[in-house]
Amino acid sequence: MKRTLLELNVNGELQQAPTRPTATLLDVLRDGLHLTGSKRGCDQGVCGACTVLVDGRPARACLMLAVDCQGRRVTTIEGLNESGEAAAVQQALAENGAIQCGYCTPGIVVALVDLARAGGGASENDVRRSISGNICRCSGYVKIVEAAVSLLGGKASDGR
Ligand code: FES
Ligand code: FES
Repeated sequence: MKRTLLELNVNGELQQAPTRPTATLLDVLRDGLHLTGSKRGCDQGVCGACTVLVDGRPARACLMLAVDCQGRRVTTIEGLNESGEAAAVQQALAENGAIQCGYCTPGIVVALVDLARAGGGASENDVRRSISGNICRCSGYVKIVEAAVSLLGGKASDGR
């Protein structure tokens, strides 16, 4: 199949990758740019393992055509690691025993960094909403939510 040269702004740098016109953003990140922190789970928009930020908002990289991401800012878990933004979330997850196999963790960290950026203290419901698109097959979510609430200075669950 014909390949085109894409230019993408990934983690603050312009990157070029030869790719198929039908490639998803996840294909290009993982296979073209070797940024394998974004995981391929369902590959159909259900599990959230591939979550990245596009123009600062969480997005599922497996659902976006890479060509449509040209001219937009893509931030992966690697970029959040480099900027230091992921560290506090990762530490909270580790300290609360909220990581088992770890496959879902990058997507959850990206979602929680987005929540942290909003500032203002997150309630348990805020946390649950922010990771509602992220499936964890190991943990049962309780420790993930506890970790996020402890970090983000959340109010106690308001029961909504
Ligand atoms: S791999 Fe993208 S949502 Fe599951
Ligand atoms: S820790 Fe295994 S899927 Fe979440």
